[in-house]
Amino acid sequence: MTKIIEMSRTHPPLVPAVFDPEYRAAMQAVLSRYTPSEMVGAHRWMGTDADRSAGAVFTGRRLGTQPEPGRVIVTNGTQSAFNMLLGGLVGQGNVLAVESLTYPPILVLAKRFGFIPKGVKMDGEGIIPEALVELCQKDRPKALYLLSTLQNPTTATMSLARRQAIADVARKYDLQIIEDDIYSLLPDDLPPPIAAIAPERSWYMLGVAKTIAAGMKIAYVVAPTAALAEAQFWPGVRATFWMAAPISAAVSTQLIETGGAERVIDAVRQEMVVRHRIVRPMLAGTDFDTKDGALQVWIRLPEAISAADLASNIRVRGVNIGTGDPYALPGETAPQAIRIGIGHAKSHSELDEAIRIIADSHGELLRRHR
Ligand SMILES: Cc1ncc(COP(=O)(O)O)c(C=O)c1O
Repeated sequence: MTKIIEMSRTHPPLVPAVFDPEYRAAMQAVLSRYTPSEMVGAHRWMGTDADRSAGAVFTGRRLGTQPEPGRVIVTNGTQSAFNMLLGGLVGQGNVLAVESLTYPPILVLAKRFGFIPKGVKMDGEGIIPEALVELCQKDRPKALYLLSTLQNPTTATMSLARRQAIADVARKYDLQIIEDDIYSLLPDDLPPPIAAIAPERSWYMLGVAKTIAAGMKIAYVVAPTAALAEAQFWPGVRATFWMAAPISAAVSTQLIETGGAERVIDAVRQEMVVRHRIVRPMLAGTDFDTKDGALQVWIRLPEAISAADLASNIRVRGVNIGTGDPYALPGETAPQAIRIGIGHAKSHSELDEAIRIIADSHGELLRRHR
């Protein structure tokens, strides 16, 4: 089988020198602290008290203050939490405001739950407040789903003023805010999430998939209040598929309590600095967007170049990348653009090889269309 270098995902780089001993130590500590029967013999519901306190510590670093643990729900990943939040907060026949290019699972869930996603126009900082106002007046959305930091796929990141403006619109039009902050732990000096500005209407989500490990399947959700957490999760709603597997929840708690989580995130952050240094000069001939700490690069293509053609040329040469297509809303045309995940390559030489192929293929198509 020909080797394919996988560059279509936004996984964080593996940092085994730090992650492996931290994870092993956390697992051993968990196994000596609880008997297996104590640990896996019962459901975790919204998390044990210790899990929810650890979630408060973890999310508190971004929120500026630690939320009361009763507001924190431990889930088995962001996507799982979407199922509860989008079903409960938006519901059938109602509108969810999203970025004009949005995380594709939202569109899948829209079909499943029967809600209507409506795109809000974006600029370099993400969604534009005036465009959100217009949509609120026209479509009366129940909620807004967005990433204020390192938007997927564009890497757009909001200034503090933009975050405040979005919070103001949400207050004026009584929108619930579902803020997915999954990419926020790698960049330095970020403004606080919108959830810190409008906590009374925000459902703040911080998953570990993009910074600690994709396979842990843990995401912390902070609800506006403890009562609303129960109303959307347990015992408010009888479905329980969002519950975290006890071993993963317990290891995550342990990693947060001992500082292991921070040490892993620091190692991932440092590795991404090196990867950005490799990648950016090699893509100098393209119209790309990325930012410090971003796990991806978004390359806009000239009109004449089709993203699908470029992706298939690159694929023939052994590299898998993504295009803008899956992010476009139903009925909308995706921009000609490609998305390259730069954390997944197994080594710097593999990353170098893949980026060289992408830059060469891009250059070739460009020359052909001149
Ligand atoms: C915006 C966004 N949210 C959530 C996720 C995945 O989160 P989880 O693994 O916690 O379900 C991803 C992964 O691609 C993502 O890009």
